[in-house]
Amino acid sequence: MSTHMDVVDIIRDKREGRVLSGAQIDWVIDAYTRGVVGEEQMSALAMSIFFQGMNPQEISQWTAAMIASGERMDFSSISKPTVDKHSTGGVGDKITLPLVPLAAVFGLAVPQLSGRGLGHTGGTLDKLEAIEGWRADLSNDEILWMLGDEGPGGVICAAGTGLAPADKKLYALRDITATVDCIPLIASSIMSKKIAEGTESLVLDVKVGKGAFMRDIDDARILARTMVDLGTAAGVNTRALLTSMDTPLGRAVGNAIEVQESIDTLQGRGPADIEDLTVALGEEMLACAGVSVADGEVRKALVDGRAYAVFADMIAAQGGDIEKPLPLGRHQQVLNAPSSGIMQELDALSVGVAAWKLGAGRARKEDAVQAGAGIYLHVKPGEAVAEGDPLMTLYTDTPERFDAALAALEGAWTLGEEEVSTPNLVLERLS
Ligand code: URA
Repeated sequence: MSTHMDVVDIIRDKREGRVLSGAQIDWVIDAYTRGVVGEEQMSALAMSIFFQGMNPQEISQWTAAMIASGERMDFSSISKPTVDKHSTGGVGDKITLPLVPLAAVFGLAVPQLSGRGLGHTGGTLDKLEAIEGWRADLSNDEILWMLGDEGPGGVICAAGTGLAPADKKLYALRDITATVDCIPLIASSIMSKKIAEGTESLVLDVKVGKGAFMRDIDDARILARTMVDLGTAAGVNTRALLTSMDTPLGRAVGNAIEVQESIDTLQGRGPADIEDLTVALGEEMLACAGVSVADGEVRKALVDGRAYAVFADMIAAQGGDIEKPLPLGRHQQVLNAPSSGIMQELDALSVGVAAWKLGAGRARKEDAVQAGAGIYLHVKPGEAVAEGDPLMTLYTDTPERFDAALAALEGAWTLGEEEVSTPNLVLERLS
């Protein structure tokens, strides 16, 4: 990248709504990664992009430049089809935990390279780290072993620092400059990591609703279309499901408590929504890889112990002991129903924020999370409750956090007389 450019010109071009050239994008991403373009300059550029957007060509170039900032994984030695899934993030979204071993049952290799949570949506690694001894950091050789014929076939581990380092820097900057919720930046951020990861196929779970980045279905559709097009152009067989995120998934929100719910699902006694979404995404992953299975077989493998056996192998291979009881916050507070009625609404965002305040999530990326913090939802929308019965149980090791969590839950739920029908979880499919 020998041509020198002036970053101020690039910021001004975008601020005025002009299209950036490929050379400008390559230069600015490379210079930012090397520290030549400063954080304050990149934050001005990110805010300009937030307001002016980028066209498909710019988004594709931006993604390619972030991929080129680091290494790419190589799974060509794996004889099985590689298929991954990525969720844009939701409250109680623990689907990765049962889904990865489920897909592996059918001979897929699933390289789920994940991150830690920031804000109100939890991170998969934070959840699994609640299992004593479980190790998130694996070498590339260990990842290949996990995926190969000798290993369990699926792996959930930390994405190494070598994958799309430009995105790592930029995502942290966006988080503190109010530039996260911008479709071109979200799409390029997610897809740069997934393309660099080297999976052959990818299923995206794009969340829509009050607890998601995308509150409205039109925006979610644009985000999904942008990501599917980026993946397809890069040779990754990509599909997306748009799924509802108005109310939390399952009954458990937190870390250990979500692992327990995942284990329950893998033992055939999980909540219906977790089971249904895991099956829908599993079927999509198999279809993406061209593997056909008999009707009902995916659900059967989820609940009859086959996926659980793979999960137990995956956890053991990374040092975890699945037989050990999972931690639960030392202090609990129960929120009781003030009257009898049917739960009309239960707001995902408020529950996510409350769990985060209890210690399940982090405000800054250096913060530690509490494995045992979280919320158990005794009553979900459509379910009836009698006056005085528990609506939710809150868990934490630090009881001074209860007040903030209870404040976040104020107005988050309503009880009434109306029957409430359960809305569809899968709203649309894109490929
Ligand atoms: N997840 C990411 O990895 N990047 C974003 O920009 C948003 C969600």
